[in-house]
Amino acid sequence: MNDTTNKKFYRYDLSPLWEIHKGYFFESGLKPWKSGAVPFSGVSNYNEAYKKARLVIENLKKIKKDDLFEIKILELASGNGEFARNFLYVFQEICEAESLNYFSRLKFSISDFSQKTLDELKASGRFDKFQSQIQFECIDVLNPQVICDSSFDCILANYLLDQFPARIFVKDANQYFEKYIAVSDDKKYYHPGKNFIKRIPKFFEFRSVNLSQELSIQHLDIFESCFRTSKTSTAVYSYGALRVLRNLLPKLNENGILIMSDFHGASRGGFDKYEPCYYGNSIAHPVNFEFIAKYFQDYPTVILYEDPIKPLHTLILARPDFSRAFELGEIYHQVYLQNKFIRALYRFLVEFKLSLYLFLLIAFLMVFLCTLKANV
Ligand SMILES: C[S@@+](CC[C@H](N)C(=O)[O-])C[C@H]1O[C@@H](n2cnc3c(N)ncnc32)[C@H](O)[C@@H]1O
Repeated sequence: MNDTTNKKFYRYDLSPLWEIHKGYFFESGLKPWKSGAVPFSGVSNYNEAYKKARLVIENLKKIKKDDLFEIKILELASGNGEFARNFLYVFQEICEAESLNYFSRLKFSISDFSQKTLDELKASGRFDKFQSQIQFECIDVLNPQVICDSSFDCILANYLLDQFPARIFVKDANQYFEKYIAVSDDKKYYHPGKNFIKRIPKFFEFRSVNLSQELSIQHLDIFESCFRTSKTSTAVYSYGALRVLRNLLPKLNENGILIMSDFHGASRGGFDKYEPCYYGNSIAHPVNFEFIAKYFQDYPTVILYEDPIKPLHTLILARPDFSRAFELGEIYHQVYLQNKFIRALYRFLVEFKLSLYLFLLIAFLMVFLCTLKANV
């Protein structure tokens, strides 16, 4: 057993690990992507860009706008710019194929909170082909005043919402507990320039809390409904991600849409440490999209559950005065329909722990069939 005497425990979202994480992207430029420390192709590739470009274009078609108006798209947390580049290519291709004049009207902002990353991206020449469409902007989404424009047709971000601290709560009978963390202060783990955040020994404990004193009334009911009924369970309180979304909505015009893709993680059975992923020296904490969807239930919103293996979710959100249904485009529409079935099945398997029985049944059937075959 680990000795935790004399260790300084922090509330998980206030742990010093988050400061190391913040500095990592701020100071590293394009290195995290070039070195392979941070994965990106799954959500930045051409197909993913196609789905999003399609969604944006199908929605633009529904707006009666003077042809002289600019189409303004902002990508936040662009990182190495892979998504932006694919998006621009595919957006141009669709416009040419369908004789739409949107590409010539497009103003696409590539942004990140790291000026170093943006400088290296600019210098890389990867966007030279799109010089008249793009601009680079240093934007920290926690400081939304720096976004002077509030008339975007679309705001996009991949793997941004998982960047913000979340709190982890457990509900056990009618008592609540919160995750606390301590990290080793052994100097041998702290090598500047090296990725140590994953390897550094961590110690956890759950402390009893009064949830109604910790959360605002507005969040409390919604968050409580994220725990699994009647069983001990752990849930992620993604308050940072929620704050970012609330900051961004006023930056859209009345027809504008916000499209955000990220890891999903709402709740798990038992006391779970709910450890995040560590990439390089960064933390990626799964986002509780269930909580976010419930919070924005009166807004035009769709959540797409894209990949049952890697729990990638895409949130599509608009201002309350957005007056139409979203045009999802063919692929997202199919995903949307499949989701209804997958969600029902997932709930069934997870909530009722039937997966084990199903596995045993399949195993039994296979053995039975093999025996039958051998006997014939
Ligand atoms: C996991 S990377 C994702 C990058 C890119 N979107 C991708 O999919 O590869 C997270 C990005 O978020 C940026 N970031 C972190 N905190 C931010 C903040 N407060 N405002 C804007 N960008 C931020 C980081 O600089 C980094 O580029």
